Amino acid sequence: MRPFEYGCVVKGDVFCPRPEIETVLVNNMQSGQNTVVVGERRMGKTSLIMSAFSKTHRCRLLYADLLNIRTITDFCDRVASAASRMGKGHTFLQRTLTFLARLRPTITVDPHNGMPVVSVDSYLAERESSFEDIIAMIEKFSEKERVVVVFDEFQEILKLDNPEQALATLRSKIQFLSETCFVYSGSVRRDMVRIFVDYKSPFYKSAATLNVGPIDDDCFAEFLQRRFAVGGRKASKAFLLKVLDTANRISGDVQQLCDAILTESDGNGELSESDLRNGIARVLKQEAASFELQTENLTRYQMKALQGVAKFGGRNVFSAEFITRSGLSSAPTAKRALEKLIALGIIYHHEGEYKIFNPFLKEWIRGYNE
Ligand SMILES: Nc1ncnc2c1ncn2[C@@H]1O[C@H](COP(=O)(O)OP(=O)(O)OP(=O)(O)O)[C@@H](O)[C@H]1O
Ligand SMILES: [Mg+2]
Repeated sequence: MRPFEYGCVVKGDVFCPRPEIETVLVNNMQSGQNTVVVGERRMGKTSLIMSAFSKTHRCRLLYADLLNIRTITDFCDRVASAASRMGKGHTFLQRTLTFLARLRPTITVDPHNGMPVVSVDSYLAERESSFEDIIAMIEKFSEKERVVVVFDEFQEILKLDNPEQALATLRSKIQFLSETCFVYSGSVRRDMVRIFVDYKSPFYKSAATLNVGPIDDDCFAEFLQRRFAVGGRKASKAFLLKVLDTANRISGDVQQLCDAILTESDGNGELSESDLRNGIARVLKQEAASFELQTENLTRYQMKALQGVAKFGGRNVFSAEFITRSGLSSAPTAKRALEKLIALGIIYHHEGEYKIFNPFLKEWIRGYNE
């Protein structure tokens, strides 16, 4: 096992414990308190949920990843497949097929992992009442034991044709399952806010909120020190704090940068500033193609606004100085460009400041020459 892992769910030695939020989640799961888990991308939501679940007793996990669902049928397929994998053997698969018989489910096998994939008949499933079938199935599973249902990337529900209706139907049924714990996890913060904080939404105040922010600096630095030691490197706390700063304290980006530093360094002496620079350069090389793809369709002004934020910071973006230095023509132009960059998910606006989500994209843009 490599000392650092990124881009996947982490557990065991590569999972830095975060007991303050994990304890809350374990208790919520155990007591049936529905919970919304929100945080930026790659902060560690899914890993936290999995780790918390592993600490519960006598609970069964139904984990459904809703990324890229576009239809009600997609939703049914994901949840049905997840239900069929709730335990070893064929019991759960058979029960899933029985409970959803009305939707004429069929089974195939995922060639990558040999797990069952359940697909329902789209002609029958593509209607609101299918949500009721799915929740009724979960209710039946819950009769025997406590089920923790995780809807990961829950904001994807908003991409269905009639999201308001979908949410209303789901909520109307879920509210009666008091013994089942629903965990809704999502990363596009504005969308999750729309679902759980907008008072017009059917899910308004329907679950406790758990924020997954950065891991505490001291804990993370100690953890990273141990992982570097496994890789035969010595890292001081001051060095690791610089690493955390560079990667904006986004857990996944921190691990990616540490992996790059480990690869680029030779193990002689303590890790230094130049090891950090080489690590950053390696990550930028790894990510260049993806950054080019992300920015290739930006207009000239959007690119200038992005460069302005990367180079001069995102606080005084409508000042004459920022406009001139960034090469933007006027404040309204800057505003339009920044709004588009937000809509594209490249930057966000928080406490009066525009910030670039991805810390490495920020570094890449800084060094970008047209
Ligand atoms: N507790 C942790 N300790 C150490 N590293 C972590 C921890 N949690 C997450 N990470 C790092 O972040 C990466 C992403 O974790 P995870 O997939 O759990 O995050 P996520 O918030 O669900 O991401 P996404 O928004 O992409 O779904 C992991 O591969 C790992 O490198
Ligand atoms: Mg995730």
